[in-house]
Amino acid sequence: MEKKALTQVTINEVIASRWSPRAFDPQYILEDKQITSLMEAARWAPSCRGEQPWKFVLFNKSDATAFSQALNCLSVSNQDWAMDASLLILSCANPHYRHNGQENGYAHYDTGAASENICLQATSLNLAAHQMGGFSKDKAREVAHVPDNYDILSFIAIGKPLEMDQLREDQKERELNERSRLPLEQIFSFNQFKE
Ligand SMILES: Cc1cc2nc3c(=O)[nH]c(=O)nc-3n(C[C@H](O)[C@H](O)[C@H](O)COP(=O)(O)O)c2cc1C
Repeated sequence: MEKKALTQVTINEVIASRWSPRAFDPQYILEDKQITSLMEAARWAPSCRGEQPWKFVLFNKSDATAFSQALNCLSVSNQDWAMDASLLILSCANPHYRHNGQENGYAHYDTGAASENICLQATSLNLAAHQMGGFSKDKAREVAHVPDNYDILSFIAIGKPLEMDQLREDQKERELNERSRLPLEQIFSFNQFKE
């Protein structure tokens, strides 16, 4: 189902088409090649000093036990729809540079960029991605064996979004909600910061 951004001027098609659905085809299993392309998209994100501080842990629905362990980390309201996704990705960042152990203040920024690359690549594969902050980081650390020197940032659900005529009644309201954004003039200014 499409829910394109309303823009004053034409923007890149994939950026305009990306959105965060909560209704996925529960039967859909991703092909290995699709998963590789999501990770290639992440890999080619820019990063401060080329550090590539990200690490992604993937839980594929084809491995039902691991997938349900990851699902259990999510808040109940996220579990409600993410159970129908095909892949859950835990996004982590190393907040220290590898070469000298000093703090990398851009690790989260860079991992956010890599995560958005994943979302855009999913869109371009006619899949959809939905990022989540609503989960237990402690549980995720335990389930995915994430070492203490990595920060845990988000889960990203990937799946095949349902078409409008496939939505159940209870899915319709939230899926058909209008997408909204701050007005354009509120997010930028020239030369000086403007409240
Ligand atoms: C870091 C982050 C955390 C989010 N956490 C959740 C979440 O826990 N549950 C949820 O349903 N959506 C979550 N979202 C999705 C946002 O609500 C969504 O991106 C926003 O409303 C804009 O909608 P759009 O992605 O369709 O443009 C999150 C998005 C981001 C980037």
